[in-house]
Amino acid sequence: MKLNKFITQLNPKAKPLASQEEEWSKALAAGIVSVKDIIAPPAIEVDFDFIKIGTTYYRTIFVIGYPRYVQANWLSPLINFEHTLSTSMYVYPIEAKGVLDDLKRKITEMEATITSDIQHGHVIDPSVQAALDDAQVLQDELVKGQERFFQFGLYVTIPADTLEELDTFSKQVESTLGSLSLVPKHATLQMEDAFKTTLPEGIDHLYITRNMDTTSLATTFPFTSSSLTSNTGVMYGINEHNGSLVIFDRFTQENANSVIFAKSGAGKSYMVKLEALRSLMFGTEIIIIDPEEEYKSLSDAIGGEYISFDFDSPAKINPFDLSGVYEEDENELGLKILSLHGFLKVVMGKLTPTEDAIIDRALVATYKAKGITPDPTTQKKEPPLMEDLYKALIGMEEPQAKGLADRLEKFVKGSLIGIFNQQSNIDIKNTFTVFSVKNLEEELRPIAMHLILDFIWTRVKNDIKKRLLIVDEAWYMMQHADSATFMYSIAKRARKYYLGLTTISQDVEDILASDYGKAIVTNSSIQILLKQSPASIDKLGEVFYLSEGEKHLLLASDVGEGIFFAGPNHVAIRVIAAPDEHALVTTDPKELLEMRQKSQDVLKQFEEPTGEQPQPAVQPQVQQARAPVEQPQTIPVPPQPQVQNQPQPTPNPQQTIDLPN
Ligand SMILES: Nc1ncnc2c1ncn2[C@@H]1O[C@H](COP(=O)(O)OP(=O)(O)O)[C@@H](O)[C@H]1O
Ligand SMILES: [Mg+2]
Repeated sequence: MKLNKFITQLNPKAKPLASQEEEWSKALAAGIVSVKDIIAPPAIEVDFDFIKIGTTYYRTIFVIGYPRYVQANWLSPLINFEHTLSTSMYVYPIEAKGVLDDLKRKITEMEATITSDIQHGHVIDPSVQAALDDAQVLQDELVKGQERFFQFGLYVTIPADTLEELDTFSKQVESTLGSLSLVPKHATLQMEDAFKTTLPEGIDHLYITRNMDTTSLATTFPFTSSSLTSNTGVMYGINEHNGSLVIFDRFTQENANSVIFAKSGAGKSYMVKLEALRSLMFGTEIIIIDPEEEYKSLSDAIGGEYISFDFDSPAKINPFDLSGVYEEDENELGLKILSLHGFLKVVMGKLTPTEDAIIDRALVATYKAKGITPDPTTQKKEPPLMEDLYKALIGMEEPQAKGLADRLEKFVKGSLIGIFNQQSNIDIKNTFTVFSVKNLEEELRPIAMHLILDFIWTRVKNDIKKRLLIVDEAWYMMQHADSATFMYSIAKRARKYYLGLTTISQDVEDILASDYGKAIVTNSSIQILLKQSPASIDKLGEVFYLSEGEKHLLLASDVGEGIFFAGPNHVAIRVIAAPDEHALVTTDPKELLEMRQKSQDVLKQFEEPTGEQPQPAVQPQVQQARAPVEQPQTIPVPPQPQVQNQPQPTPNPQQTIDLPN
């Protein structure tokens, strides 16, 4: 400023410095390439009926006529049109006062028309009568403030590479609009304004509108996704339509069951692990059947109990166990024998009616030999074993009994002797218990899963708590009709015992082909579909009533993306995890290796200066994790697979199993 003054004093005609600066910067700016220059098309050609920008042709259509009745989402054929379209909707709120005056005048006019018709002995024009009724209803609602008044404009711009294509697409769009009882018109001679109207600027250059009340206007909303955000529950993911959180409490539904179907690797187990982890923090007990050993690191990290069944593992379950709890009107032994029938059919295969009868008698005799009868007081005695049934069959006179004994033999003394030939020695005491059957032979897995489910079910009935029972790879259970029936009976009765059953499967067709599978689906309030294969999409579409758009979404979705059905709500969901959670639940071998490497590096640092065992690094984690429910804030501890060569900090199944005295 001082300099400026000085210059003016020297030469009063000289321009002040500030304006000179402006000029220079203008000159400079003119020579700089701006973003506009870069993105601008080389040319724009405005014709009567199209506009050509660069090499692309555009045509804009506006709508002048609307149907009398519309229902929700009626514009979806336009929104889901199979070609790129730019659609703009303009909504102008109108002052009710002016509208009411107009309406009053119109109503008077129409009433006058009708009266004069009557006076002249003419038949009343039904269209006038209908319009009068509508106007009166609208007047009534506006006066009461139930409805508000709006004007609505709808414009669609169609892009195409050639003029022929443009004509074809225009025809298709017009016929789609026509099928919705809309009357479309080309914005002839106004293509430039019309094009600008559909730019995301929000400026309506055409202003071709139609009156609408609030209800009709609401039906034009193109994204009829409901948001699923409740005040309670756990976070399942992000709603892909509107970015809101999907927070949901499955225990608020008529049943707390859920099914999850998707291709292998689509993120089913990942999602369920997150749900389990988050539910655990709200005091829900978690029980998991894990055929693929996918839940071990999670269980270890949060201090859960991981019970692995294999040949020589100490964990045993006796199928003959009785709950020992007497319930009014319930013949516990009778029910047990019934459920053993189902189990034995899974073990031995199909049974003829004679064989079935023999088994029945053998079962009763086996219990009787141990002093157990339908009298509840006898049912606390030590239950028989598989071996006792085998002996009972051998001792029977019928020739078929011998055959049955032979079929049972390999499970009692043969090659498949495994987890169910001794008294039970496990219990569900931890709030997070996982049963693994990965180390069993393929053939034994469905049998073991059936048995474990039966064991869990007995415990669940004995002691009612808020629980989630997760059955991963549930298609194992669907292979046998009797296991499928059993799963279904659990799904049906779970609600009574405050239990939510989660059924996970990649084999959608198998599950949906079985009547029991379908019944499990219909008995699950929550249904989650993640990425699907083209082979199963049609079947799924039928069972879940998927729209074409939803089918496309499921075919094209990424890992962790899909649709969440809760009662009448459908939302597109993306499952997300916090970094700490991700570290706990991922099964990506690359990530696991990296984590292991990282923790080994950390351990090395500890070792170098002192040369001591790195106890402090892992010890606190175990103590914190022991009580995950009471101290939820301590959960996000990443798994420590690195400690394999160190003293195991996590509970070892062998330590936590109650071995018989
Ligand atoms: N929402 C997600 N975000 C990030 N990674 C995921 C997500 N869902 C799954 N993954 C990863 O994808 C892989 C497969 O997931 P997984 O749950 O094991 O699939 P599935 O059980 O369906 O076969 C895993 O490595 C997992 O870490
Ligand atoms: Mg899985």
